[in-house]
Order: sequence, then C-alpha cells, then structure tokens
Amino acid sequence: MILVTGGAGYIGSHTVVELQQQGYEVVIVDDLSNSHSNVIDNIEKITGKKPKFACFNLADNARTAAFFAEHTIEAVIHFAAHKYVGESVREPLRYYYNNFLSTLNILQAMQKHGILHFVFSSSCTVYGQAEVLPVTEQSPVKPAECPYGNTKQVIEEILRDICLADAYFQVISLRYFNPIGAHDSALIGELPLGVPQNLVPYITQTAIGIRDSLQVFGDDYNTNDGTCLRDYIHVVDLAKAHVVALDRLLHGKMGNNYETFNIGTGTPTSVLEIVHAFEKVSNKQLPYTIVGRRQGDVEKVWADTTLANTVLGWKAEKNLEEMMRSAWNWELALKEKINL
Ligand code: UD1
Repeated sequence: MILVTGGAGYIGSHTVVELQQQGYEVVIVDDLSNSHSNVIDNIEKITGKKPKFACFNLADNARTAAFFAEHTIEAVIHFAAHKYVGESVREPLRYYYNNFLSTLNILQAMQKHGILHFVFSSSCTVYGQAEVLPVTEQSPVKPAECPYGNTKQVIEEILRDICLADAYFQVISLRYFNPIGAHDSALIGELPLGVPQNLVPYITQTAIGIRDSLQVFGDDYNTNDGTCLRDYIHVVDLAKAHVVALDRLLHGKMGNNYETFNIGTGTPTSVLEIVHAFEKVSNKQLPYTIVGRRQGDVEKVWADTTLANTVLGWKAEKNLEEMMRSAWNWELALKEKINL
C-alpha cells in the first residue's frame, strides 16, 4: 500500500488517480485543511476505486505513529504541507510547525517500521533567481525568500542527511515548476480557498465572474514582453512523474539513494502569454490591468529537464493549450456544481 499524504489536495489527488490507474493500492492521509472530502468520491468516479482515507494532521505525532502501526505501508509520497508564499511570511511559525513536524513524524514512523521509500514534493523555489537558465539540478540553491521556500530547502537537507546515514533509505525529491490545469474529466482540479494566490485559478475565476479583473504583477522585467517567465506544467504530467519516481524506488533502479529531479516542460512562458492562451481556448477576453511587481517574485525560471527525461524516463506531454483548456473546463464544472 502506498501512503499519499495530502492526497485530497491539488497535486495529490491527481497523483492518486494515476497511481490507482497503474494498479497501486493507495491510502490517503489528509486533514482537509485546504481541500474537500468530496475529492475522495471524485477520485473514485474517475478510477472506479475508492482510495482508503484517514483524516488527521500528520503534525500529531501520536496519531501518526498509530496510523503507521495500523497500516502496512510500502512507500510514502509526501505532499501534505502549507504552501502559500505570502501566508508563510505572515505566519512563519505555523508554516514551520506544520511542514517540519509532519515530515519528521512520518520519517520517524517510517524508520520504526523499516519503510525505505519516500518521494518528496519539492519546488523550483529552491533556485531563487538563478543566474544561469534553464536551471539544472546542479544549479545553486539560493537562500530562501520566504518560510515556505525554506521548509522545502531544509526538508531536502534533512532527507539527504538521513540517506547519508542509512544507505538503505531511498528518497526522490521532485522539484516542481508551476503546475496548472486539471484532470480531463473535470472531476478534480485546483480548489483555492478564498482569493487565489496563483495565476491560473485567478484567471479562470475572473473569466467566470468571481473576480473583476486580473492584476498582472509587473511588465518591466527583462523578458520578451516585460512580464515574468515561468515553466508551467500540466498537473497530470506532474502526477505521472510521481508514478515513475515510485517505480524507480520500488524496483531498485536508483543510481544513488538520494536523487533530485526537475519536473517541468523546459519551456518558459510569460504571464501575458498565459493570458492570451487562456483567451484562445475560452473564446473570452480577459480583463486585466498591469500593476506593480509582487514582492518576492523572481523574474524568470524554467527547467532543464534532461535528467528527468533521460534518467527518470519521464517527459511532460501536454501543451499550454491543453493546460489552459482543462483549467477552464474545471472552472466551468465547478460553476455548474454551485448552481445545482
Ligand atoms: C509561487 C512560488 C512557488 C510555489 C508556487 C505554488 C514564488 C517565487 N514562487 O510560484 O514557490 O511553489 O507559488 O504556490 O513565490 N501573477 C500575476 N497575477 C496574479 C498571480 C500571479 O501576474 O494574480 C504572476 C506572478 O507574478 C508570476 C506568475 O504570475 O510571475 C506565476 O505566479 P504564481 O502562479 O503565483 O506562481 P509563482 O509565483 O511562480
């Protein structure tokens, strides 16, 4: 059985679908602090199989220990974490407490039960504003700009140290670039609570009338059209990378017992290019205004995906149009549900 922490969340739920479709048995642990219990039912609608589900917070050591005592877990894919940059600046203690304690509790329980395989949700945020682009896994890790980013960096270090101390413990850290889009079924997708912090949900909510207008944060960057460049990746492609990583761990294919991979498309896209791609697939004109830069934004970052393509044997397949169309279909499906 594979434990997927945060499996009711955005990336987690898409990963559970891909795992089940490849024949893996999954148990989800999620406290539903940033997700909804009907995600579990919707996963079942897609795959025909209801994943096992336990609702609790993994920062609770006793509860986590009891969970591991009650289940036979072969590997852990660890998504569960607070994830908002701005919020982490305002509430650093809450971020450090939750993200560190949950990870440490899981690792402690894994050690106790001799569970040796771990996939970690890391982020391209560890590169900060890289001097050389695209970034490879060897690009320097920059001092974190926010507590959220710091939790990703420090947890990577903790995992590296554990792997150094225990040659049998095997970890893959996946550094995600910018996941967007939703499952083709439009049954699962991103469910931001309150005002979305990220670009694509803000765009789809604007187009459907929940928000008045998109604010584009800065058009005076040193890029093709002055707006920031990112490496946007379809969430289903990203989910599939986890299945490949898990296969690598479970089938003894690791070159080293700690490995890191960039998970992106390798293609930079500007904010305005995203807006135009959305307008094309939705046939709608998106109201937007250019405003000042957002504090903490990097100007540009995109991935060198050679390692993931060659060593992991994974490659992103979906293009920008598919990303934007699926995001829009998901927003339309959400509206229908609210109107029912
Ligand atoms: C951020 C984090 C990243 C985190 C990810 C998921 C930074 C530097 N990176 O990515 O670590 O994993 O969120 O939470 O903070 N934009 C607008 N208007 C908006 C929203 C966004 O113009 O209303 C622009 C941003 O300035 C940026 C791009 O859209 O250039 C993408 O922003 P966003 O979706 O928030 O992702 P990142 O900031 O790249």
